[in-house]
Amino acid sequence: MPPLLSSFRRLVPLLLAALSARRIAVEAALVTEDLQLVWHDEFNGGSVDWDKWVVDEGDGCDVDLCDWGNGEKQYYLSENAAVANGVLAITAKKEDFSSRFYTSSKVTTKNKFSFRYGRAEARLRLPPGGQGLWPAFWMMPQDNAYGKWAASGEIDIFESRNNFTESVNNLAYGNAFPNNSNHNGECFLDVPDGTLEEYHVYAVEWDADEMVWFMDDEETCRIDDWFSTDVKTGEALQKPAPFDQDFYLVLNMVSGDWEIASGEVCLGALCTNEVQVFDGFAVSVEGGVLRVTAASDATASGTDGGIVMAATSGLLHTMGMCG
Ligand SMILES: *[C@@H]1O[C@H](CO)[C@@H](O)[C@H](O)[C@H]1NC(C)=O
Ligand SMILES: *[C@@H]1O[C@H](CO)[C@@H](O)[C@H](O)[C@H]1NC(C)=O
Repeated sequence: MPPLLSSFRRLVPLLLAALSARRIAVEAALVTEDLQLVWHDEFNGGSVDWDKWVVDEGDGCDVDLCDWGNGEKQYYLSENAAVANGVLAITAKKEDFSSRFYTSSKVTTKNKFSFRYGRAEARLRLPPGGQGLWPAFWMMPQDNAYGKWAASGEIDIFESRNNFTESVNNLAYGNAFPNNSNHNGECFLDVPDGTLEEYHVYAVEWDADEMVWFMDDEETCRIDDWFSTDVKTGEALQKPAPFDQDFYLVLNMVSGDWEIASGEVCLGALCTNEVQVFDGFAVSVEGGVLRVTAASDATASGTDGGIVMAATSGLLHTMGMCG
């Protein structure tokens, strides 16, 4: 266990008071004043808990979404997601697989856990460098109630691309592609080189009226205008649609020469042929009105402070490795 985590656990009772104060200050408008832990994964086992997670395998072509709709170059495999030492590691590799030249992983809680309203958070760290990588912590609609992307919405809790000098929060909504809307450009937080390679807690707090994003305790984004369209009928829908439905969690790392027009392809900082990229993710989701679809994690069990720890940090430390 990383030393930081051990000492952090000892500090939990002290941090609780500070945490309560912050919540009162920033969450007056949100439904999440009375948070209850409804789902968490602290990655304490010896492998990914497949009762909680599922992998979006492949390159998307078998679900009629080649390159996953993003020009993604990699092939997602379950073996590129691994748990050890309390860390979920998503490893991007430069390796040939099924006519692709990169592999990586994308784990989701689709059909296993989804929720509406509350807080989702993860404590995570990105690998050094980042050129060619696009890691993301986000949410997608469980049921696509209003139709195909992005009429049913997408909630981007945290993502960063290439050199990792920006922390990005965003929403997609409005209508089916290409007539969708988003808040691109509004919530790009410039950070000094190396910032995202350190551990931070990324969170969104969400209710029917508003979404607020945080990096650690700092608010980084606040959005309260969105709408949708029922793709089948063409009917215009006002807020809270489409974000009035259950969403599931996604953690992935797009890899390859993403958005690099030409030239050398690098993964990570060192431009080596293969980079072991360990991204640790800990995710906890809390809220007053959450629905738990997977009974296995309906309660906050916890030897490590349970609710308090999860609410505070999302619990998790990761190792970054490159080379
Ligand atoms: C990102 O970093 C690589 C390697 O240091 C550098 O060659 C590249 O120009 C950088 N790209 C941007 C957009 O800053
Ligand atoms: C997008 O909007 C245009 C203009 O209103 C319309 O002609 C087109 O059919 C729409 N596309 C989709 C996929 O809804």
